[in-house]
Amino acid sequence: MTAQNVKKVCVLTGGGDCPGLNATIRSVVKTAIFEYGWEVWGSEDCFDGFIKPDGLAPLTIKDVRGILPRGGTILGTTNRGDPFQYPVKNGHGETEFHDQSQKVIDKAHAMGFHSLILIGGDGTLSIGYKLFQAGLPIIGIPKTIDNDLLATEKTFGFDTAVGTATDAIDKIHTTAESHDRIMVMEVMGRDSGWIALEAGIAGGADIILIPEIPFKIDMVCQKIMDRVHSGRFFSIVVVAEGSAPLGGAQIYREGARKDPYNRLGGIAFTVADMVREKTTMDTRVLVLGHLQRGGSPSAFDRLLGTRFGWAAVHLAAENDFGKMVSLKCSRIESAPLKNAVAHPRLVDPNGEQVLAAKSIGIGFGD
Ligand code: F6P
Repeated sequence: MTAQNVKKVCVLTGGGDCPGLNATIRSVVKTAIFEYGWEVWGSEDCFDGFIKPDGLAPLTIKDVRGILPRGGTILGTTNRGDPFQYPVKNGHGETEFHDQSQKVIDKAHAMGFHSLILIGGDGTLSIGYKLFQAGLPIIGIPKTIDNDLLATEKTFGFDTAVGTATDAIDKIHTTAESHDRIMVMEVMGRDSGWIALEAGIAGGADIILIPEIPFKIDMVCQKIMDRVHSGRFFSIVVVAEGSAPLGGAQIYREGARKDPYNRLGGIAFTVADMVREKTTMDTRVLVLGHLQRGGSPSAFDRLLGTRFGWAAVHLAAENDFGKMVSLKCSRIESAPLKNAVAHPRLVDPNGEQVLAAKSIGIGFGD
């Protein structure tokens, strides 16, 4: 192979971390090196690595040894590093947002990168699409525990998160039952309720609240009291962080309104307070939080990440940029990044999973 044929690819991970990122990085590095003999580079903390000094480094086979079962990302990640609105502290210690995208573009050209393999969720891939429009050879790989990306049936990270949440429901089940309590468990899911829905069904929740189905607290309480009247003195409520009562607003963490990144959280406490008040039943809250983003990836996520990484390198080999690899009918395909980030992939309130859940007696508060 001549030096001219040795392409230089750069891999980046952006947005919230999730299980399977390392498996995907490993697959990109191994495919690029073993199959094509290319040079692979990694960028630290997504595009930050293009902006700060020494943020780019070569990735060798040695660097990816042993990382397949590890959660997190060896490259680091950020959901604060949009180069089009890059946070910079001014002289008064306040955060200002500056457009640093040209720096990223210039650095990519100066480094001679043939392609940038960007592993991210909707936010990161939207940035990737803008950079693609500005001329960068971007290829996307979808990740997120939320599973809310269009153009792919599954993102890696989701399966592990559902497993973690299901395990937590199993654990709170026994304590709820022993104490005749209502347990309200909050899971992640900003726009979509996929984790709440799938873990809720898999864990045998009694009520599932998701952003796609605004809930009425009276319906939630009625379901709880119906169970009491049938001799079941405990209930498990699983609520996605982005859920809201009908006509009400989503709940943000205290002080988060001042936070430009608007962190959700706390809906479980609101639901628990309302349930306690209306039913007088003993009620407790569990916010699962970032536990859902950690841990060793499931076999499914390792496999999907490996397939996605392999497919992304093949797109690079074909100079097929501005695309995202995706899963369709269990096969790996690709879709234009533009379609992938147009809007979040939501739970269909009349879809098969919701209907099946309702048929087996799970309430949605509607
Ligand atoms: O995008 C994944 C996600 O888990 C969302 O469901 C959640 O709102 C967000 O990350 C929280 O991210 P962080 O606390 O890292 O800012």
